[in-house]
Amino acid sequence: MTPVITIDGPSGSGKGTIARRVASVFGYHLLDSGALYRLVALAGRRRGLAADDEPGHAEQARTLDAEFGTDVAGEERILLDGVDVSFEIRTEAAGAEASRVAAMAAVRAALLERQRAFARPPGLVADGRDMGTVVFPAAPLKIYLTASPEERARRRHNQLKEKGLTVTIDDLSQEIRERDRRDSSRAVAPLRPAADAILLDSTGLAIEQVVDQVLELARSRLPAMN
Ligand code: DC
Repeated sequence: MTPVITIDGPSGSGKGTIARRVASVFGYHLLDSGALYRLVALAGRRRGLAADDEPGHAEQARTLDAEFGTDVAGEERILLDGVDVSFEIRTEAAGAEASRVAAMAAVRAALLERQRAFARPPGLVADGRDMGTVVFPAAPLKIYLTASPEERARRRHNQLKEKGLTVTIDDLSQEIRERDRRDSSRAVAPLRPAADAILLDSTGLAIEQVVDQVLELARSRLPAMN
């Protein structure tokens, strides 16, 4: 059995950054499941699908031609149909569209096996909303990462600024609230901690402090890590 560490939580909780760091320390693979939903939404838009076309988006999810890699500078590169869309899928608009297609049961079902296929030796760190509840329910370590809404808006603001995107904190707070509401209230795989998840509140903590907590938990929960 390949060890899997799941990190779920709302947007801006820092799970992407933490997941990447933990995966790199252990030499594990990384599943950024949010990127898959962002890619499905983008593929649908490029093919002119209506926003509410569930079978159409499920077909995009089934046939998604996506590649995850890094460039020579070590920067993450995500390709859709062979074209680099790394920048395009990170905008707030792309996140909002992803959240909409993610509420479609047929899309989630179509992505299930693709996500599980990321669990390969020596191990996997999977980040998303339902990694611990639906995709990897038997994972030996499940983290549910939160932070106050104000801090999450600030972090997203900094992330977007680094990418050269300008958004106001107020607009961002509004969008984050809307996305949280949609992700938590949908009928299928809503955002919530698994019953056996460990809750970590990263408000006021530096990235390294959270990474250290997760590494310590991993070392105590996954014997192979010692
Ligand atoms: O993590 P993210 O911001 O890249 O995710 C974008 C959207 O995709 C998020 O608002 C909800 C959806 N999503 C999901 O429903 N389930 C996941 N496992 C990951 C993301």
